[in-house]
Amino acid sequence: MKRYAQVFQGTAFTSKSPKEVDCLREHLFCINEEGIIERVVAPEAADYQAILDDYRDEPNFQRLTQGQFILPGFIDLHVHAPQWAQAGTALDVPLYDWLHTHTFPLESKFSDLEFAQEVYDDLVSALLANGTTTALYFATVHKESSLLLARICASKGQRGLVGKVVMDDPEQNPEYYRDADTRTALEDTEQFIIEVKRLAESVKQGVYPVVTPRFIPSCTDEALKGLGELAAKHDTHIQSHCSESDWAHGYVQERLGKHDAFALHDFGLLREKSVMAHCNFLDEADAALFAETGTAISHCPISNAYFANSVIPIARWLDKGVDIGLGSDISGGFSPSLFDNARQAVISSRMLEDGVNPALPAKQRGVPASRILINEAFYLATAGGGESLSLPIGRLAEGFAWDAQMIDTALPGGKLPIFDANEDLHDIFQKIMYLSRPEHIREVWVQGEKVHSRA
Ligand code: GUN
Ligand code: FE
Repeated sequence: MKRYAQVFQGTAFTSKSPKEVDCLREHLFCINEEGIIERVVAPEAADYQAILDDYRDEPNFQRLTQGQFILPGFIDLHVHAPQWAQAGTALDVPLYDWLHTHTFPLESKFSDLEFAQEVYDDLVSALLANGTTTALYFATVHKESSLLLARICASKGQRGLVGKVVMDDPEQNPEYYRDADTRTALEDTEQFIIEVKRLAESVKQGVYPVVTPRFIPSCTDEALKGLGELAAKHDTHIQSHCSESDWAHGYVQERLGKHDAFALHDFGLLREKSVMAHCNFLDEADAALFAETGTAISHCPISNAYFANSVIPIARWLDKGVDIGLGSDISGGFSPSLFDNARQAVISSRMLEDGVNPALPAKQRGVPASRILINEAFYLATAGGGESLSLPIGRLAEGFAWDAQMIDTALPGGKLPIFDANEDLHDIFQKIMYLSRPEHIREVWVQGEKVHSRA
């Protein structure tokens, strides 16, 4: 008469707040049939020993061995799934040229379901192997292959939020790659939402349809307004790009006479379940609007270095109460790893802060108080992502999904530099964040199901 489907015993790290990481030494994690963490039990708890005695010889009990640690699974808030096929290339051209000479030609090929299957299958596996348990995806304008991506997430056990991309403006998009017209764009989106919701009925970890205007420059006003209405009608998530580069930000200012944030809001596209990528050029009023509407920022630090030449002041917007998570922006960002993106988030923030030198005020460069800690980057990749999506994910806490990755720091031939069995746990946490590679990610679970193993 055991009540838990699984029990894990080991040391884990989870965010307590953006700046604080909880180091849970030798805790028990009791998971129910639905894949939800029902209890997190500290060694001091009265029933710790009783639970341990009850489960330790059962097949559904797992004790982590020396050098193994649990982190929450990562939540990637911005992935262009088709662009996996060009990851690592074409990083030397500006955004507009990159879209027209590399990205649109590639994405247009996803009308071919066989090609889509090959790329999407590989990407979802690669993300799981990198510890990404939830991903918010842009697919392409094609309804059928966007649906295929949702099905692949469903069958591989990843929690996928998937958008059929809308690009209906014939003036802005090439004839070979756009929606046939505005009406078709809206009808395809609605049909897509209905079909993904139907698929979701049989998917334990969840798959979700996402209303996805690519960015304001690719859509007509009519489409943007219609998409806002569809999101409200079907209560879906919304994603787009917002104030990413000088060019994109300037285009919207010229066309609509306002910043992206206010334009998106006027089209009904900023709501609690909205996630906007990049947001490099938000001002105070834009950020206040994000905080007020519950709109989240997907921070894409690697991509921003290449395509926006910009560092978003994350510390400032976190302080303002804006929800923020981390995005790889494949392939604007080259890496499928949120470890890499978390590191870059810290590095970029240090460059924004730059050479503040109290002894030489005249030489002060950069923006004071811009730096973020690795703790905060970890928060963005986990708990912040969960809050951005309004889902109970990203923390190892009661009521949250068991979405987790086990890091093996004692991998033969690839050991992390831990030499003291009693090393401070926060130091170990920092070593994991800075030095882990995919081979250290030994097992990955989503909603209690094992989805990746290097055993
Ligand atoms: N803006 C519009 N489309 C894209 C895209 O695919 N990637 C990035 N980084 N920015 C965009
Ligand atoms: Fe993007």
